[in-house]
Amino acid sequence: MASEGFELIQLKSGHTSLRLVSNRETFHPVIGPEAEARRLHVEQQRLTSRSRTVSPFVIWDVGLGAAANAVAALEALAESPGTVELHSFDHTLAPLRFACDHSEYLMYIRPYRQAIEKLMRTGQVTIGRVVWYLHEADFRQSLEKPDLPSPHAIFYDPYSAASNPEMWTLEHFEKIRRALRDDHPCLLTNYTRSTAIRSTWLLAGFYVGIGVGIGEKDQTTIASNQLELLEQPLTVDWLKQVAASQNSNPLRESGTLYCPMSPTDFAQLRQHPQFT
Ligand SMILES: C[S@@+](CC[C@H](N)C(=O)[O-])C[C@H]1O[C@@H](n2cnc3c(N)ncnc32)[C@H](O)[C@@H]1O
Repeated sequence: MASEGFELIQLKSGHTSLRLVSNRETFHPVIGPEAEARRLHVEQQRLTSRSRTVSPFVIWDVGLGAAANAVAALEALAESPGTVELHSFDHTLAPLRFACDHSEYLMYIRPYRQAIEKLMRTGQVTIGRVVWYLHEADFRQSLEKPDLPSPHAIFYDPYSAASNPEMWTLEHFEKIRRALRDDHPCLLTNYTRSTAIRSTWLLAGFYVGIGVGIGEKDQTTIASNQLELLEQPLTVDWLKQVAASQNSNPLRESGTLYCPMSPTDFAQLRQHPQFT
């Protein structure tokens, strides 16, 4: 079943998810939208406990897509004692519209369909303690907005670096890092386990750790502006993997993809406070 460039796909786990026809990338491909959103983002970010200590607790949901990550946050935080601001970013609402039109197959959407329609119409909706904002634009432009509040949690979920390279460059992550406030401890969660992307995040000024496994993937990656927030930071031993890899070069706007790291970048990585 396909329309607007998306199709529904039955995962091996039995769950239903969306796939973008043009790049054949499936949203939440392994364990399905609800379980992946909960495990990778909500639980790993310790959202319920961390949001109790600060109000408003600010989440950036980068790549709103079909809203599985956003809905998982709403479910976890609707009863939060403080206020939560959920800022969702996407340059197209086509996947969300497709998900709403096929909500009979996507269970997580059903209870939120009216709220999502209001969000798409007005750009804002309140659900329990969560105020949900929609930023319908290229995230790289939304990031420049002076009134965008600094986050405590980032769900980073664009397409892969192969098909969405502009969302994975060092220059872009340096901008994200600069948007974080030192007094807002922040975690960023993503499905990758790529050495090149871990290197990119470290060189952009993040601390980087091993993230939870999802399905057949034994680990993912988590980053932060504070080392103490990471349960399993990459150790100095991981640098041996970088040195041996044929594909550890950070992704740059005008750089070569998929090649070993230059001696200059390696020297800079070696000096990162996480390894000294
Ligand atoms: C894998 S899907 C996200 C799935 C989504 N998080 C969910 O829970 O259903 C990737 C999304 O990133 C969005 N995206 C890609 N590049 C973007 C950009 N530069 N700015 C904003 N959104 C972008 C795509 O339009 C797409 O909806």
